[in-house]
Amino acid sequence: MDKIIVTGNGPLNGAIPIAGAKNACLTLMPATLLSEDPLTLTNAPRLADIKTMTTLLQSLGAEVSSLQEGKVLAMSSHGIDSQKADYDIVRKMRASILVLGPLLARFGHAEVSLPGGCSIGARPVDLHLMALEAMGAELELKDGYVHAKVSGGLKGGVVDFPIVSVGATENALMAATLAKGTTVLKNAAREPEIVDLAQCLRKMGAQIEGEGTSQITIQGVDRLGGATHPVVTDRIELGTYMLAPAICGGEVECLGGRMDLVASFVEKLDQAGVDVTETANGLKVKRRGDRVQAVDVTTEPFPGFPTDLQAQMMAMLCTAQGTSVLEEKIFENRFMHAPELIRMGAKIDVHGGTATVTGVDRMKGAPVMATDLRASVSLILAGLAAEGETVVNRVYHLDRGYERVEDKLMACGAKIERVREE
Ligand code: EPZ
Repeated sequence: MDKIIVTGNGPLNGAIPIAGAKNACLTLMPATLLSEDPLTLTNAPRLADIKTMTTLLQSLGAEVSSLQEGKVLAMSSHGIDSQKADYDIVRKMRASILVLGPLLARFGHAEVSLPGGCSIGARPVDLHLMALEAMGAELELKDGYVHAKVSGGLKGGVVDFPIVSVGATENALMAATLAKGTTVLKNAAREPEIVDLAQCLRKMGAQIEGEGTSQITIQGVDRLGGATHPVVTDRIELGTYMLAPAICGGEVECLGGRMDLVASFVEKLDQAGVDVTETANGLKVKRRGDRVQAVDVTTEPFPGFPTDLQAQMMAMLCTAQGTSVLEEKIFENRFMHAPELIRMGAKIDVHGGTATVTGVDRMKGAPVMATDLRASVSLILAGLAAEGETVVNRVYHLDRGYERVEDKLMACGAKIERVREE
């Protein structure tokens, strides 16, 4: 298993290109199942999770060609010959559940393995199932699989989500495009990845209104056509790299960054003493003084502060002036980076969903363990400004969601290298 060694090396200066959004691509790819015609995605990120979704779609009979070094995904679901998503693929990536809605909508039946939990929480899929049942699906859970079927095709219905769920909104949105009649999704997720999906589906011929608000209305159509669609910029990768100069000092321009994707995050950075300015090519980030100020953070569904940036924000607050309180309201166990940061000298008290961080002058490099995708990158961020060497083990978590993180940071002056271990 590879590891990454990062050594505190002073301010960072330069530009970092931001890739297409993993979490948009992982829902745009299953959308190909809704149509016989080709769907091509551009600005696709080169990540392990995209390869896993490619394997899953190919296992169903879809053609997925990765072109231009993976930045273009040319897909066709003309020859789908299976509606079963096997456990051995689904267990690697929870987003596999997003093939359920499209398969059911187009073929009237599907068998998808339950994804199982993951390190940040149980992450059930009951809301995905509730939404599809509201459209007439008959679901049975057997042998760890969801067996779904509907005779005569899905019908439009009203889905009132008790809590906001990104994935359940995406599954329901895709399924509703081919349901007979009108579907209304209430308390729908408002994430930019949902907006991106709706825009792509509309290019394919779907009739959708309200994406980006908490109520989305879909008028079902008989069939969808093909399209070419650029994957929206990854707001989580963007926020992650914006924190690098906030932690180390210096000035970094995140190319392709858009302020509307990270508004609540930028608000918190401003409170902490970090300037973010829009440029012709993206967002430029620079810390105002020698040290950021403590700020309190509560994670919420979009447009609130994103849970996927909580670990990275904590890494910055470990060396802030003062005490910060972070509340994680989306997942039940998303502070696993805290014990690792404590090994580096951070002062963090975790009680349930609340972490209290008392800033220290400087952290000390140490061997640390990555536990999930965002925790792993928070350890790298902490290591960038720590005294001495930090060795982050199990970086396969990192490669699921970040393209060439060491190259992007090295280009700005970071002392960072990947050590390949068989
Ligand atoms: C998506 O996960 C993202 N993943 C996550 O990013 C992100 O953290 C999350 O949305 C929240 O923004 C992808 O898009 C592939 P949810 P998802 O359904 O859809 C509960 C990353 O690091 N829930 O919005 O699984 C759930 O347990 C990943 O890139 C149910 O109870 O998240 C959680 O507590 C991590 N029943 C809350 O809702 C359900 O049926 C929000 O989950 C579904 C969800």
